Parts: sequence; C-alpha cells; structure tokens
Amino acid sequence: MKLLLLHLSIFFSIYLPSSYSCTPNDKNALLEIKKSLNNHPLLSSWNPQTDCCTGWSGVECTYGRVTYLTLSSKQFSGNIPPAITKIKSLDILFFKYSNFSGPIPDNISDLKNLTYLGLSENQLTGPIPGSLSQMPKLEAIHVNDNKLTGSIPNSTCLTTGSQEKYRSRCQNTTSTQCFCRETVS
Ligand SMILES: *[C@@H]1O[C@H](CO)[C@@H](O)[C@H](O)[C@H]1NC(C)=O
Ligand SMILES: *[C@@H]1O[C@H](CO)[C@@H](O)[C@H](O)[C@H]1NC(C)=O
Ligand SMILES: *[C@@H]1O[C@H](CO)[C@@H](O)[C@H](O)[C@H]1NC(C)=O
Ligand SMILES: *[C@@H]1O[C@H](CO)[C@@H](O)[C@H](O)[C@H]1NC(C)=O
Ligand SMILES: *[C@@H]1O[C@H](CO)[C@@H](O)[C@H](O)[C@H]1NC(C)=O
Repeated sequence: MKLLLLHLSIFFSIYLPSSYSCTPNDKNALLEIKKSLNNHPLLSSWNPQTDCCTGWSGVECTYGRVTYLTLSSKQFSGNIPPAITKIKSLDILFFKYSNFSGPIPDNISDLKNLTYLGLSENQLTGPIPGSLSQMPKLEAIHVNDNKLTGSIPNSTCLTTGSQEKYRSRCQNTTSTQCFCRETVS
C-alpha cells in the first residue's frame, strides 16, 4: 500500500498541470506583446528567463498553453498588440479599462478558442469587425465605451449553440455588448 501511494505521488508530481511549462510559441507571442508595449514596467514579471506560466502577471495557462490574458490598466496605450492573434489557445482576453486606441484587429477572429472578448472602456476606433461572427466559441463580447462604429455582427453566437433569448441580444443592431449564454466565466 505504501509503495502504491509512493507511486501515485510520483505520478502526480510529474503529471499535474502545474508541471507543464509554457509553450514556446505562446511565450514568444507574449514577449512580442511586451515589446509592442515598449517593455512597460507593469510587465516586468514577463522575464524571458522564466516560465511564462509561472508568475507572469495577467497570464494563466492550462497544460502549458496560455488560456487567459489580461492587460487592464489605463497605463497601457497604443494599438492592441497584434501578436495576441498568435496565442491560439486563448480562452479569455480581458483588456477592459485600458487606454488602447486604434482598431480592433480583423484577424482577432483567428482566436478560435476565445470564449470571452473584453475590450470595453478603451479609446478604440474604427468598425467593429464583422469577423467576430466567425469565432465559434465566443460566449460574450464587451466592446462598449470606445469610439467604435457599427455594432456586434448579428450572426454572432449563432455557432455557440446558445439559447435564443440570449442570442437575440447579440442580434440587436445597436449592441456593443452581449452574452450568448446566461453565465460566463
Ligand atoms: C492614453 O493614450 C493617449 C494617447 O492615445 C495619451 O495621450 C494619454 O496620455 C493616455 N492616458 C493615460 C492615462 O496614460
Ligand atoms: C494579424 O494581423 C497583424 C497585422 O494587422 C499581424 O501583425 C499579425 O501577425 C496577424 N496575426 C496572425 C496570426 O497572422
Ligand atoms: C481549443 O480548445 C480545445 C477544447 O478545450 C482544446 O482541445 C484545443 O487544444 C484548444 N486549442 C488550442 C490551440 O489550444
Ligand atoms: C442580420 O442582418 C441582416 C440585415 O439586416 C439580415 O438580413 C439577417 O437576416 C440578419 N441575420 C440574423 C441572424 O439575424
Ligand atoms: C438594443 O440595444 C439598445 C442599446 O443597448 C437598447 O436600448 C435597446 O432596448 C435594445 N433593443 C432590443 C430590442 O433589445
């Protein structure tokens, strides 16, 4: 029995998610983001010598893939860093209450695993990209309180198997925030 427990504990210490280290692709993309934000002091924990899944502020991983990224501070300005589109594993992108300006990149829709896109309360300009409707897992979008034109494309949420009553809020042609489901993470 003791031996079995020992084996189990060795097994778990090797295979627990926390033992996965950051995927190089994701780390490189984060370092590109840091560079495009002029190595902002708020990102000083993003140290190329360390694992991006351990102690990088605003970054969380699942099995070594970056799934959560938050850049939320009025100190972050300039364009939304284009390299975010390289982190294909992203589930949650939370860039609310920052000072980003310029457009929402069209190819943000390359993030096919994204369930939450939060860009409210920035200084973003230009159209709300129609490509948002091509994000199969998107469950909620907040792009309100910017200087954007247009609205969330009315076919958003059609692919998420969401209920009609929530989906209809995304089909409101003046909407800049909507949920495809009742609860979102
Ligand atoms: C926000 O960004 C603008 C430039 O787009 C800059 O002039 C302003 O100082 C920034 N605000 C803060 C609080 O950093
Ligand atoms: C998305 O477009 C930007 C330029 O608009 C580019 O820098 C970036 O590499 C593109 N992302 C991907 C994944 O191709
Ligand atoms: C997207 O999510 C699915 C299901 O959770 C996962 O199996 C897949 O590896 C993810 N894709 C990426 C690029 O992380
Ligand atoms: C979206 O809007 C267009 C034009 O207003 C309309 O033809 C189309 O049926 C709408 N699609 C959905 C899914 O509501
Ligand atoms: C559409 O959205 C606007 C702004 O959020 C709101 O005032 C209006 O009541 C909504 N219309 C419908 C039909 O939900």
